[in-house]
Amino acid sequence: MRGVGELLAQTRVCVVGGSGGVGKTTTSAAIAAGMAARGLKVAVVTIDPAQRLATALGLDELGNDPHRVEAERFAAAGLELRGELWAMTLDPKRTFDELIAHLSPDAETRERILANRVYRELSDAIAGSQEFTAVAKLHELAQTGDWDLLVLDTPPSRNALDFLDAPDRLTAFFEGRALQTLLRGGGAGLRLLGRGTGLVLGLLRRVTGTELLSDLSDFFRLLGGLLGGFRERAEQVEALLRAPGTRFLLVTSPEREPIEEAIFFQRRLRAARMTLGGAIVNRVHADELGDEDPADLPALLAAEAGLSPALAHRVAAVFADEHALARRDAANVAALAQRLGASVPLLQVPLLDGDVHDAAGLVRLEAELFGDPGA
Ligand SMILES: Nc1ncnc2c1ncn2[C@@H]1O[C@H](COP(=O)(O)OP(=O)(O)O)[C@@H](O)[C@H]1O
Ligand SMILES: [Mg+2]
Repeated sequence: MRGVGELLAQTRVCVVGGSGGVGKTTTSAAIAAGMAARGLKVAVVTIDPAQRLATALGLDELGNDPHRVEAERFAAAGLELRGELWAMTLDPKRTFDELIAHLSPDAETRERILANRVYRELSDAIAGSQEFTAVAKLHELAQTGDWDLLVLDTPPSRNALDFLDAPDRLTAFFEGRALQTLLRGGGAGLRLLGRGTGLVLGLLRRVTGTELLSDLSDFFRLLGGLLGGFRERAEQVEALLRAPGTRFLLVTSPEREPIEEAIFFQRRLRAARMTLGGAIVNRVHADELGDEDPADLPALLAAEAGLSPALAHRVAAVFADEHALARRDAANVAALAQRLGASVPLLQVPLLDGDVHDAAGLVRLEAELFGDPGA
């Protein structure tokens, strides 16, 4: 079986996608650590990491830029980082404000936009959806040329595909389309913003009457001035996602629904001319029994492990359950491999016991993902 190291040869940007809860954030961190162990200077942009993972990566401090992870944390867990591992957690609101500041022609425009109440309400809502701030940050980091490899975790959205619509959504925002649809009360506008009607009501409550009108007209006038710069940026972001050095890795669990979504994701990537570097099936149940018939197990356990018949039956039942899950997983993985096609490398990562949130857990995951020793 090939490992992630081979999938990511020649890769400058790795985007880790997949449906919610499949292990994207943990996998992103483990991939970044593994590539840093192989001598690269790597930055991983995580999104909403679990608290323990954040702590393991030293992400508890504030800031919206990568900071270097202490190599000792990983050395203590048995992984020597010959390169450098940098990590950050995305702050969507700040990323968005930074983008506005960057696109503003002068300090006055910048201040007026950032202080505009319509902007503040909308940017909270849009940044809150995280999809495009993630790619905007990725682009910003890629521009610096500081890293050999950037690994981007993607937002915990229910739908893995939301992420691909992000640049369009941002364009809509800048063109005022989202707001116009929203004010007309259209469901599409609400979906675009990823929030419910509370947003409109909140906006109208806080910014009322003539103030609303003047803030609205200000908002359109000021943002209108940024539109050209913004379109250019959106194009650059899309170009980065399509660049030869950019690969998507798709994470899925061996269950039916995430697999269906993975297939759909592959089609969308293909239609968008983006490169799927491989799929990772995470949390696969290992088959401890192999070809052994579960029915033979109680006798075997009694004879070889000296268990009492009652205990042997109970232990055998646990093995049999695992065996059934492992067979289900194997069938699902085989179906996935067939549907993805032979050109898409597929890796399997077992369901690990215990915590995978700390450095030791990441190192165990790293070993599974890379398949070969780190150094
Ligand atoms: N191979 C694995 N074995 C066991 N637990 C795992 C594995 N991969 C991920 N997890 C756990 O699954 C949960 C979800 O992982 P996470 O990376 O947060 O998913 P996502 O970012 O896709 O929502 C976390 O508690 C994580 O520790
Ligand atoms: Mg996550």
